[in-house]
Amino acid sequence: MPNLKNILLLVIIGGLGLYFALTTPPPATVPAAAPAPVPAVQALPAAAMVAEPQTAMVPPAAEPVAPNYVPRKLKVFEGHWQGLDGRLMTRELSRKLGFPVGLQGVLLGEVTLNGANSGFLAGDVIIRVEDMPITTVEEFQEASRMVQNRTEAKLTVIRKDETRNGSYRTMSMMLRAEGGLGFVQVEGAPMIQAGDPRPHSYRGPCTDCHPVGKGFELTPDPDLINLPPPAITRDTADKAISPHENRGPCEACHLIR
Ligand code: HEC
Ligand code: HEC
Repeated sequence: MPNLKNILLLVIIGGLGLYFALTTPPPATVPAAAPAPVPAVQALPAAAMVAEPQTAMVPPAAEPVAPNYVPRKLKVFEGHWQGLDGRLMTRELSRKLGFPVGLQGVLLGEVTLNGANSGFLAGDVIIRVEDMPITTVEEFQEASRMVQNRTEAKLTVIRKDETRNGSYRTMSMMLRAEGGLGFVQVEGAPMIQAGDPRPHSYRGPCTDCHPVGKGFELTPDPDLINLPPPAITRDTADKAISPHENRGPCEACHLIR
């Protein structure tokens, strides 16, 4: 005979059945409603595919780049005159090169042409042009303008005595140029990029001396560009005919034909 428990179970099962019957949509309505939503659902991924490459085509470097910054007033460091390549003698340089601290003038880093023929040497420090004292590259240029139409001028230099440590000579020499001396051409510090590390000791705000940006200097330095080794013949290789010093087996670098 049916007890209370069984009746309750029946009621619950019945109720659940009724619940599902009410909540589950009649199967017939699904296909009927389907045609409309389906194209919409398919269109979604298609739209996403189109949108993505478009965003990818926008270059990530959209961040604006600061234009070249060239300060109005830049310190000058180098002066070139008749083969004399001079640069400002600073405390830093005199300390590094072992010149008396406080020595002012223009240090010759390289000497060629008329400068070399006139007897100047790299390492000389120009302290006077005629009787005009030279403590900066600007003064060097100024003094050179006073003699630019002459064919010779007296320059006074401090020269290290290499045989005796800490000993210097003051010498006067004539700089000669047959076609006229002309005047000193000046140069500033090279352009640097905004993130460049400082390879020298602290000298003050970067923009006292450097333009900042890109494009005023050829990189790499053309002197450092090497051409690829040309192909050489088997005969040249066998006879080891080479315009350069021995660099090793020819086939390490040359295509041999
Ligand atoms: C008082 C002038 C002066 C200041 C200030 C100065 N520099 Fe220089 N810098 C020079 C000179 C001159 C050179 C050329 C090499 C040398 O003499 O050491 C140079 C060379 C460089 C170079 C090598 C560039 C090359 O192409 O060879 C870099 C990089 C550089 N400096 C970065 C800096 C940075 C960064 C600052 C600021 C924190 C700075 N400098 C401040 C004068 C200066
Ligand atoms: C480590 C690399 C290297 C090796 C090894 C080498 N060469 Fe060269 N060679 C060069 C380069 C680079 C040049 C281009 C000019 C230069 O840089 O001197 C060159 C230039 C030459 C040239 C001038 C060709 C031209 O048309 O201007 C000849 C010839 C030559 N090499 C012969 C030789 C011979 C022969 C050997 C072997 C005995 C040899 N080289 C080994 C790198 C090399």
